[in-house]
Amino acid sequence: MREQTDVIAGVDGMRLRSLALREAKRFAATRPQTQAALKAGVGPWLGGVPMHWMRDWPMPFPLLVAKAKGARLTDIDGYGVDDFCLGDTGSMFGHSPKAVARAIAKQARRGLTYMLPTEDALEAGRLLSKRFGDFRWQIATTATDANRFALRVARAVTGRPKVLVFNGCYHGTVDEAMVALEGGKTVARPGLVGQAADLSQTAVCVEFNDIAGVEAALQTGEIAAVLTEPVMTNSCMVLPQAGFHDALRTLTRRYGALLIIDETHTISSGLGGYSAVHSLSPDMFVVGKCVAGGMPTAVWGMTDAVAARFADYDSTRAPGHSGMGTTLSGNPMQFACLRATLRDVMTPANYAHMEAGARRLSAGLARVIDSHRAPWHVVRVGARVEFICAPGPLHNGAEAALAHQPQIEAALHVALLNRGCLIAPFHNMMLISPATKKRQIDRLIAAFDEILTDLFA
Ligand SMILES: Cc1ncc(COP(=O)(O)O)c(C=O)c1O
Repeated sequence: MREQTDVIAGVDGMRLRSLALREAKRFAATRPQTQAALKAGVGPWLGGVPMHWMRDWPMPFPLLVAKAKGARLTDIDGYGVDDFCLGDTGSMFGHSPKAVARAIAKQARRGLTYMLPTEDALEAGRLLSKRFGDFRWQIATTATDANRFALRVARAVTGRPKVLVFNGCYHGTVDEAMVALEGGKTVARPGLVGQAADLSQTAVCVEFNDIAGVEAALQTGEIAAVLTEPVMTNSCMVLPQAGFHDALRTLTRRYGALLIIDETHTISSGLGGYSAVHSLSPDMFVVGKCVAGGMPTAVWGMTDAVAARFADYDSTRAPGHSGMGTTLSGNPMQFACLRATLRDVMTPANYAHMEAGARRLSAGLARVIDSHRAPWHVVRVGARVEFICAPGPLHNGAEAALAHQPQIEAALHVALLNRGCLIAPFHNMMLISPATKKRQIDRLIAAFDEILTDLFA
C-alpha cells in the first residue's frame, strides 16, 4: 500500500524524500578523497568543523576546497563547480580579482600589520566617499564589528538606549539584532548561545514595511537608531514597499533617531549600493564582506552632522577604552585591497555585467518555475537572486519565515551541487560576479529545470 502523501510547497513529500536520499548518496559516492581526508583530519575541530556555520551546508559532509578562481571552485576530488554562493558575498566580485591579488602580493613584501595607516588608506578614504557618499569613515574587520561600533556612536550622540531592528534581520552577531517579534513582543532568538542579558532592554523589533509599528516604537523616545538593510536579504528576500524608505527617513528625523543603512549584502544593487541607486540618505552607512575583494574588511561612515555630534561627545568622554576598534583592523593589507577593489573592481562595467547576468538568471528560473506550475517565485536585488519555495512577494520577516522550506531547500542544494552548481546554504541565494559567464548561468537554469522536472513530474 502507498504511504499517505504529504505535500510541501507543492511538492509530493515522498518524491522529495526520495530525491534527497538519491542526491545525498550521489554526493557521497563521488567524493572518496574528501571523505577520507575528513575522516583523518577533523578531530581537533569542535564539532568536526573549523567554524560551526559550516555545519549548515546540506551535503552529508562539506566540500574541501582545493582552489577557487573567478566564479569557479575546485574541490579536492577534482570536481569543478560554478560558484554562485561566492563565499556568501565575501567573493561577490569573483575569487581573487586580479587587482586585489596584485595588491596582496605587493603588500605581502612590505609587512602585514603595523597599527599605523599607509598612503593606500588615504586613497581608499577618498574612493570610499566617491563611491558611497560624503561620510567620515572608519575601518573594521567584519561587518559585525562595523555595526557594533556604529551603534555605540548612535547611542553616544543620542543618549538613548535602544536600537530598532526588523523581524528576520541579520546584521552579523550583533546582540541587539539577535531579537525576534513574537506576539507583538521583542524576544531573544531561541538559538542564541549563552545569552545572559535581556535583549528587550536594548532592542525593539518591528516588522519590515510596517511604518505604523516603526512610528509607535520611535514615539517612546528610547530609540537611538534604526539599523536596517534596504532590502531584507537574510530571510527569504523581502523588498521594501513603495514609500517605505521615504517614511523611514522622515520618521527617524522627526523623532531624533539615527538611520543606519547596512549595505553588506545590498551592495549587489549597483554602484554605491542600494542607497546610491535609490537615493537614500542614511546618517550612517555600513558595508563589509566584499568591499575589499574578499580580504576581511568592513567600513562604516557617518555624515558630517553625526561626526560633529560625536566629536563633541568624544571631547568630554573619560579617557580609556571606547569599545570600538580591534588590533588587526586598519592593517595595510586591508587598505591595499580596499583601494584596489574600489578603484579597479567596483566599476560600472563590472556592475553592468553582474546586473545583466542576474537578470538572465532570474528570468530563467522564473520560466522554469512557471513551466512546472510550482507555487514559488524569484526575487532579485541587483546581482543577488533568490528563488523562494512559496508564492510572493513577501512583505515582512514573519511571512519570510513561513516561506522558508528547509527540507526542499536542502534537497535542491545538494541536487544542484551534483550538477555542478553551488548556491548559498542559507535560503536559496545566488550571486553573479563580474567573472560569471552566461554559460554558467544557463547550466544553473538547466540543472534547476532537471530537478524540478523530477520533483513535479
Ligand atoms: C546585512 C549584513 N550585515 C552584516 C553581516 C555580518 O557580516 P560578517 O559576518 O562579515 O561580520 C551580514 C552577514 O551575513 C549581513 O548579511
